[in-house]
Amino acid sequence: MINRMGTRWRWPVMVSVLFLFALVAARSYQESTSNQRDQRVAFSHPIHAQAGIQCLYCHSEAARSQIAGIPSVQKCVGCHQVIAADEPPVQELLGYWERDEPIPWRRVTEQLDFVYFSHQPHLGAGLNCETCHGNVAQMEVVEPAVDMHMGWCLRCHEAQPAIKIARLVDCITCHK
Ligand code: HEC
Ligand code: HEC
Ligand code: HEC
Ligand code: HEC
Ligand code: HEC
Repeated sequence: MINRMGTRWRWPVMVSVLFLFALVAARSYQESTSNQRDQRVAFSHPIHAQAGIQCLYCHSEAARSQIAGIPSVQKCVGCHQVIAADEPPVQELLGYWERDEPIPWRRVTEQLDFVYFSHQPHLGAGLNCETCHGNVAQMEVVEPAVDMHMGWCLRCHEAQPAIKIARLVDCITCHK
C-alpha cells in the first residue's frame, strides 16, 4: 500500500523536477547568449578607449542635442579602411560599408517614448558619461550601469540648486 502510493507520487515529482531543470537550463542558456556579444560587429569600447579615442569623437551629438547617437559606418571606415583592415571583425565592418547598409546595433539604454531626455543640458551642467552609463571604457559589452527609472532621475534633480528644483521635478520636464 505504502509502496504503491510511493511509486504513484514519485513519477509526477520526478517529471516536474526534470521540467524545472530544463527550464532553468533554457533560461541560463538564453542569458548567457544574450549577455554575450550579440552585436553584429564585434565592437569593443576598451580597445578604442585604450587607443585614446574620446567618447565625444564617436558620440558627437551628446554635447549639443537630445541624443548621443551611434557613429555611422562611414565614421568607422574613416579609420578602418587602413587600421586593422585585414582583421576578420573589421572585414565584417567593411562588408556593411560595401553593401551600403547601416549596422543594426542592439540598443542598450533606451527610454520609453513618453519620457523626454536630452543629453545636452546634462553635459552642459558638467555631468560626465560615467555618472549615468558607468565605466563604459572598460566594458567589453556595454551593459546598463544603473536602472534609469523615474526615481533615479528625480533623486538627482531634487539635489540641484533650490531655484531650479521646481522646474526639474515638474512632470512636463520629462513627459512632454
Ligand atoms: C570608436 C567609436 C566609439 C567610441 C570612442 C565610444 N563609443 Fe560608445 N558606442 C559606439 C558604438 C559603435 C556603439 C554601439 C555598439 C555597442 O553597444 O557596443 C556604442 C554604444 C555605446 C553605449 C550604449 C548605447 C545604447 O544605448 O545602445 C553607451 C552608453 C556608450 N557607447 C558610451 C560611450 C562612452 C561613455 C564612451 C567613452 C568612454 C564611448 N561610448 C566611446 C562607438 C564608440
Ligand atoms: C579614430 C579611429 C577609429 C574609429 C573612428 C574607429 N576605430 Fe575601430 N579601432 C581603432 C584602433 C586604433 C583600433 C586598434 C587596432 C589594433 O589594435 O590593431 C581599433 C580596433 C577595432 C576592432 C578590432 C580589430 C582587431 O584587431 O580585431 C574593431 C572590430 C573595430 N575597431 C571596429 C570599429 C567600429 C565598428 C567602428 C565604428 C563604430 C570603429 N572601429 C571606429 C580606431 C578606430
Ligand atoms: C544624466 C544621465 C546621462 C549622462 C550624463 C549621459 N547619458 Fe547617455 N543616455 C542617458 C539616457 C537616459 C539615455 C537614453 C535616452 C533615450 O532613450 O531617450 C542615454 C542614451 C545614450 C546613448 C544611446 C544613443 C542615444 O543617443 O540615445 C549613447 C550612445 C549615450 N547615451 C552615450 C553617452 C555619452 C558618450 C555620454 C557622455 C558624453 C553620455 N551618454 C552622458 C543618460 C545619460
Ligand atoms: C546625476 C544627476 C542627474 C540625473 C541622474 C538626471 N538628471 Fe536631468 N538634469 C540634471 C541637471 C544638473 C540638469 C540641468 C539643470 C540646469 O538647467 O542647470 C538636468 C536637466 C534635465 C532636463 C532639462 C530641463 C530643462 O528644463 O532645461 C531634462 C529634460 C532632464 N534633465 C531629464 C532627465 C531624465 C528624464 C532623467 C532620467 C532618465 C534625468 N534627467 C536624470 C541632472 C540629472
Ligand atoms: C526627471 C524626470 C521625470 C520627472 C520630473 C517625472 N518623471 Fe515620470 N517618469 C520618468 C521616467 C524616466 C519614467 C520611465 C521609467 C519608469 O517607469 O520609472 C517615468 C515614468 C512615469 C510613469 C509610468 C510609470 C510606470 O510604472 O510605467 C508615470 C505615470 C509618470 N512617470 C508620471 C509622472 C508624473 C505625474 C510626474 C510629475 C509629478 C512625473 N512623472 C515626473 C521621469 C520623470
